[in-house]
Amino acid sequence: MAHEPLIAPSILSADFADLGTEIDAVAGSGDARADWVHVDVMDGHFVPNLTIGLPVVESLLRRTDVPLDCHLMIEDPDRWAPGYAEAGAYNVTVHVEAARDPVMLAKNLRAAGAKAGLAIKPNTPLDDYVETLKHYDTLLVMSVEPGFGGQSFIPEVLDKVRTARRLVDTGHLRLLVEIDGGINSDTIEQAAEAGVDCFVAGSAVYGADDPARAVAALRERARAARSQ
Ligand code: DX5
Ligand code: ZN
Repeated sequence: MAHEPLIAPSILSADFADLGTEIDAVAGSGDARADWVHVDVMDGHFVPNLTIGLPVVESLLRRTDVPLDCHLMIEDPDRWAPGYAEAGAYNVTVHVEAARDPVMLAKNLRAAGAKAGLAIKPNTPLDDYVETLKHYDTLLVMSVEPGFGGQSFIPEVLDKVRTARRLVDTGHLRLLVEIDGGINSDTIEQAAEAGVDCFVAGSAVYGADDPARAVAALRERARAARSQ
């Protein structure tokens, strides 16, 4: 059984000149409160876009008590990812396509006090990494090509979600299944039915007039899909 739905707004679609206020907007109470805030770190090499890095994450950690979910779309995460864990990020996710030694990296992230997350791009198969995932706390299934917000959901990745769900439900893996890319009120239901635990949403939250209401609405849609 999937976890009670977790909603993780991505600040990639927020106003970068006012990130503190944007995070506060989803840090209220009840269903409108984000479970995690998703922070997309891009280096202009692993993906063709450049965003923010560790100094900004450190400032956000001082600003909010909402757990930060750092999604590192960078080369050489073996070198850079543990710094985010040491800084206090709740979950640090690295891409399997970029990691040299993902098992050692997971150990380092956990030793630094964070949950360890492994991300896979839409065309990366899950089956090759099941053993590796035994060392991880979260699996991030990308449902768009990483790099930009506001892209369309790729439904084919749900086969990987179903496989991961089965592996967790049968006790072969112990992790949360997270999905990232193109999640909105239309697409969240199919992801929830496939067995996602944690839903990242950027444009669907920060493109809405009221981000907090958008969080609550997404949560409601995910719950409703689960209970069918
Ligand atoms: C894309 C990022 C996503 C992005 C999602 O590379 O990893 O987290 O913010 O944005 P939406 O929800 O707009 O697809
Ligand atoms: Zn992301």
